[in-house]
Amino acid sequence: MENCKEQLTRMLGAALSKACGATNCDPNVITASRPEFGDYQANGVMAAAGRAGLKPRDAAAATIAGLKDPEGLIASTEVAGPGYINIRVADSALLERGNQALAAPRSLIPPAPEARKIVVDYSSPNLAKEMHVGHLRGTVIGDSLVRVLERLGHEVIRQNHVGDWGTQFGMLIAYLRELDGDASVLQAELADLESFYRAARQRFDADPAFADRARLSVVKLQGGDPEYLAAWRRFIDESLNHCQGIYDRLNVSLTRADLDAESRYNEDLGGIIRQLDEAGLLRENDGARCVFLPEFKRKDGETLPVIVQKSDGGYLYSTTDLAAVKLRAGELGADRSLYVVDARQSLHFQQVFAVARAAEMVDERLSLEHIAYGTIMGKDNKPYKTRSGDSVKLADLLDEAVARAYDLVLEKNPDLDEEQRRQIAETVGIAAVKYADLSKNRMSDYVFDWSNMLSFEGDTAPYLLYACTRIKSILRKLPAQASTSSLLRISAPEERALLLKTLQLPEVVNLVAKECYPNTLCQYLYKLSGSFMRFYEACPILQAEPEVRNSRLALARLTEQALEQGLDLLGIQTLEKM
Ligand code: ARG
Repeated sequence: MENCKEQLTRMLGAALSKACGATNCDPNVITASRPEFGDYQANGVMAAAGRAGLKPRDAAAATIAGLKDPEGLIASTEVAGPGYINIRVADSALLERGNQALAAPRSLIPPAPEARKIVVDYSSPNLAKEMHVGHLRGTVIGDSLVRVLERLGHEVIRQNHVGDWGTQFGMLIAYLRELDGDASVLQAELADLESFYRAARQRFDADPAFADRARLSVVKLQGGDPEYLAAWRRFIDESLNHCQGIYDRLNVSLTRADLDAESRYNEDLGGIIRQLDEAGLLRENDGARCVFLPEFKRKDGETLPVIVQKSDGGYLYSTTDLAAVKLRAGELGADRSLYVVDARQSLHFQQVFAVARAAEMVDERLSLEHIAYGTIMGKDNKPYKTRSGDSVKLADLLDEAVARAYDLVLEKNPDLDEEQRRQIAETVGIAAVKYADLSKNRMSDYVFDWSNMLSFEGDTAPYLLYACTRIKSILRKLPAQASTSSLLRISAPEERALLLKTLQLPEVVNLVAKECYPNTLCQYLYKLSGSFMRFYEACPILQAEPEVRNSRLALARLTEQALEQGLDLLGIQTLEKM
């Protein structure tokens, strides 16, 4: 079923087009920016009127006069300012929609009219080292997007484009082979991949003979030597186990089946160079093979090359990404291909996308989108690091989050038993870290701040989870004759505001699917919780007469549904108690 915004858009679009004597005018319906303006407003009249040579207020009046509303969605409209239309939705329509959602909770977010095939590249760490704080954003933002897209009925193909190939693996293999004599030593060393990497690096810097063995290892690996391949696989496997541990703990839906390792493309890279050559795009530059596209210029006006093969024959990150674009467009048959990757790689993606289009590796229809995100900063406004200047391991960060959440839960609810408290702390700690990230506009950098994210006040996971437990506890203690099955009437403005808000969940979810900003959903959930709190303060539930009581209980249940489904799309689990 259409949500309110879609239905209003359709109805006003038809009336506006008629008023302007045009086709497909966009009324640009948005949720009202202030409650005085009603529930929704149409901002698109001025532009359409301008094109038709009409006075905007006249066009607005004509639109209203020509509105067809057979289902009675609209209670009232008014022309405002230079030609906006303010719209108030009918209470009866809100009640009817609310009751439909109560009867079938999943219908709160109906599927998109057209299911698409969407590839989402996210998380994608380099396997040479442990996952660190720099991988948090791509992992949680990407996972929220795949949840949203799947929920709307799209076919999502996750691609975890891990870095598992390249010269640094030579060093790791050489070190691994050195330790291989003693299985227990090796196992212990591999338990901490970060120190394994550091130890290998030290060997490499200190011992020229080791450095030679490291370089030889790269050659052997690339030549397909079985022993070196086995050592490499061993390391990669260990590193992937580590990632999986992080994903599971973060409630991130990636599994090994979603791997799209760089090494997967080794055999395809020669073909990519050939294809670029056949398309007449290749040029030699200092022995390297490059693609020059006029749209990429340096500051001095020189065209910037995209290097696809080094003079020694080696391939680059961009070559692999071209092969990946091709797979996603061709074999995987994507309609849309998203890359949830750090904003610092934005030139890389612009170039890869442009080269792929120039070489006709993808056709017009495929939308290639870099879903960029900013950096997590420390209090000093520099990228977040440990005190000693090392990168913060994600595993340590999550441990600390849970430890801090434990203290918070202990303070809030000292009566819980130990086991319960540990479980709650795990959920709250992880949720706090995820929500703090997801609630920021992904394009901006943000400062990592424990006390903010673990507060019960403000736009935080503990606040939202607490709101959820409040509702659940109301619904757990129902009096004997109470029913939560239907909304019967709206008897207070706080009730109406809350009902309208719950019904707007699908509108927000559609926006997230389109524009890929999960913070829009966070903002919505925060406002929804606030709206619930206001309702809860203003409207007595159990003391009210039975019909009002039941209707309010049903509204509480609908709110619980919207909150829970919304949080689930962020990959955040709710609690019964906290
Ligand atoms: N492994 C890369 C890195 O750590 C990110 C890969 C992103 N995906 C891609 N298709 N390039 O920087």
